[in-house]
Amino acid sequence: MSSQETVQPVDDSQIPGDGPIVTTTVKDPATGEVRRRRRRAFTMADKLSGVQYEIRGPISQEAEKLAYDGHKILKLNTGNPAVFGFEAPDVIMRDMIAALPHAQGYSNSKGILSARRAIVTRYELVEGFPDIDVEDVWVGNGVSELIQICCQALLNDGDEVLIPMPDYPLWTAATTLAGGKAVHYRCDEDNEWNPDIEDIRAKVSEKTRAIVVINPNNPTGAVYSKDVLKKIVQVAREHELMVFADEIYDRILFDDAVHYSLAALAPDLVTVTFNGLSKAYRVCGYRAGWMIVTGPKRMKEGFVAGVNLLSGMRLCPNVPAQHAIQAALGGKQSIFQLTAKTGRIYEQRELAWQKLNEIPGVSCVKPMGALYCFPKLDLDYYDITDDSALMLELLRQQHILLVQGTGFNWDRPDHFRVVFLPRVDVLSEAIDRLGDFLSHHVR
Ligand SMILES: Cc1ncc(COP(=O)(O)O)c(C=O)c1O
Repeated sequence: MSSQETVQPVDDSQIPGDGPIVTTTVKDPATGEVRRRRRRAFTMADKLSGVQYEIRGPISQEAEKLAYDGHKILKLNTGNPAVFGFEAPDVIMRDMIAALPHAQGYSNSKGILSARRAIVTRYELVEGFPDIDVEDVWVGNGVSELIQICCQALLNDGDEVLIPMPDYPLWTAATTLAGGKAVHYRCDEDNEWNPDIEDIRAKVSEKTRAIVVINPNNPTGAVYSKDVLKKIVQVAREHELMVFADEIYDRILFDDAVHYSLAALAPDLVTVTFNGLSKAYRVCGYRAGWMIVTGPKRMKEGFVAGVNLLSGMRLCPNVPAQHAIQAALGGKQSIFQLTAKTGRIYEQRELAWQKLNEIPGVSCVKPMGALYCFPKLDLDYYDITDDSALMLELLRQQHILLVQGTGFNWDRPDHFRVVFLPRVDVLSEAIDRLGDFLSHHVR
């Protein structure tokens, strides 16, 4: 509301509700008299307290302001391939454009049949993946929407979900918003960021309903071995947990890394496998993702009813993008060229990882998958107590936007995440400037 409003005079002595009251200046249209009026202020819903998504949080909003003022900001806060010159494969775009005239109506809430059929076919080729049919597949407006649907469908107030630390923070946010409690299990940097199985075990309680596994991992870049995955599955099995397998980076692998789908190792558990077009197919703006619910029918039917209810309430996923799914999943997978030793993403990963490790007081485990480095700052070397303040200062001084480790629910102010999507020259200069910036924070 502007500082002075022209409004009809009303009695403001009784204001409905018990929320906060503010005073605004109003002008009576009849008399032209200006006076103060008490008004009800609308506050954010209580259920949002504790819900955080720092990747697009206050520091990123500050970056928008700086960009609006004409500053060139290097945004290394989101894994957004298109803005770094990674174009979608032609065939994806062509199929979507061709489908536009027929994509005007709502679709089935679970998604169009051809997309779901293509997803089923894709997983038929994954070794050991349980048998599925189109009825087990839901398409969504990105994996993000499906994560929220699952958390809302599963959790009662106070139910606990085991989530990795560091995490992709949407999982913690969606759990909290659904009334659940995120309980973070530690991934061990000294063990190539593998999940600490004993920590997982120690954190299971009577209220634990599910465990989230992000593999390949954002933000650490870890890719888990079959053995590690089997151990996680064993804990889930012993405690009858639902397994949420976020596998959106399953085709972004480096060197000899191999991805194993969790559902293939847990056919006896209710497992939800998430994936989509955002990363491997570089079309995150299209908002096309999917999930597959596997496991014994009797165990999952209540949850599935909830998922169907919520999917129906949002009517359907955006229809044009669904037509891109079949084209994307069939035929040549161009991502493999980008991640091969001569490929652009591979070269950028090498450079980012090497150059980060060259900065004194910075160490980084080599990412074996995904699009991120998650380096550590040695706090004996650097005088840093607040990683958000550090990232804000970096943004203001160097116009580089990174995300602080605590934004991934990491419990110390000693990490940050770098997206290695820019071309090598851009990345190289950015990391040089980062090193220079950090040199002013040496103890
Ligand atoms: C681990 C992980 N899961 C899910 C998503 C969300 O992807 P989508 O674009 O499909 O919503 C992301 C996006 O960065 C991610 O990193």
